[in-house]
Amino acid sequence: ADEPLVLGIETSCDETGVGIVRGTTLLADAVASSVDEHARFGGVVPEVASRAHLEAMIPTVRRALDQAGVTLRDVDAIAVTAGPGLAGTLLVGVAAAKAYAMALDKPLYGVNHLAAHVAVDQLEHGPLPEPCVALLVSGGHSSLLLVPDVTGDVRELGSTIDDAAGEAFDKIARVLGLPFPGGPHIDRVAREGDPSAIDFPRGLTGPRDPAYDFSFSGLKTAVARWVEARERAGEPVPVADVAASFQEAVVDVLTAKAVRACQEHGVDHLLIGGGVAANSRLRALAEERCARAGIRLRVPRPKLCTDNGAMVAALGAELVARNVTPSELDLPADSSLPV
Ligand code: KG4
Ligand code: ZN
Repeated sequence: ADEPLVLGIETSCDETGVGIVRGTTLLADAVASSVDEHARFGGVVPEVASRAHLEAMIPTVRRALDQAGVTLRDVDAIAVTAGPGLAGTLLVGVAAAKAYAMALDKPLYGVNHLAAHVAVDQLEHGPLPEPCVALLVSGGHSSLLLVPDVTGDVRELGSTIDDAAGEAFDKIARVLGLPFPGGPHIDRVAREGDPSAIDFPRGLTGPRDPAYDFSFSGLKTAVARWVEARERAGEPVPVADVAASFQEAVVDVLTAKAVRACQEHGVDHLLIGGGVAANSRLRALAEERCARAGIRLRVPRPKLCTDNGAMVAALGAELVARNVTPSELDLPADSSLPV
């Protein structure tokens, strides 16, 4: 028999994602983003995002079905992000998923957004190595996870105590006069700069600090102060050097803690996901440090790292494959759903 066809829906932030997989094969990955509508606010506005999801949901499902060359009748199961994320945007996806599950009389699987970021790698690199350590870095979250079983045993080793890594990129981009979202712009500008030009602070790296938590707000303040001091003195701001030095401070801490998590837990596979995984310096430094430590690194292509429906479908398919009991039709959206 064919592997089950799973449709996945993602609405935890500003991306309406609908993905379709058959087992570990990706058939469709349709994403509608409201990011442009938030640009002038410098961050995602929940009300605006919720309305955008409502408008985009049915067209995005249609687009995914077209891409996959299937109809709703072919779908064997529906998976949806139940949390964590923005309460109002999650509700739109969960309501849609329930409606499809009910109308089609197919099982519904509420999934955790962070676990889905991990599971998506199967679509690119084949069966997930378990246990693995996962570093998830985006505009909304920054976590280090230990993953013995992506469908049922995902442990958070640490997370950010203030800003998410992507948020820090976005805020510093703003300080440097670069557009939102700023991550890709910092990445580009930093290529012309010297990463050791300015010694910015590495948050939570002292001997008494928690080993796996992150903090980026001190770094953010340090960079902003440094730039202000330059401006006050009437001196030009070396944008490329600031961008490169800031980026180095972030990825140095992220990779050091991720490698340490692997070593201390005896795990030889590291996975990186989330929008910041697209960062070229993060990829390069992670490769270098993993190679030195004998750790195998897996980073999905950027389109699968950012929020999308394929990752939800991928985890849904794994839940089906491992015979996990489906969710009830009164599945709640939970903005602070733990892993
Ligand atoms: O996963 P994502 O699309 O959405 C969520 O935030 O959940 O991640 C978006 C974040 C933004 O903060 C963006 O600036 C950052 O990922 N980002 C990057 C790069 N590309 C995207 N940060 C650093 N370097 C990049 N190349
Ligand atoms: Zn995400």
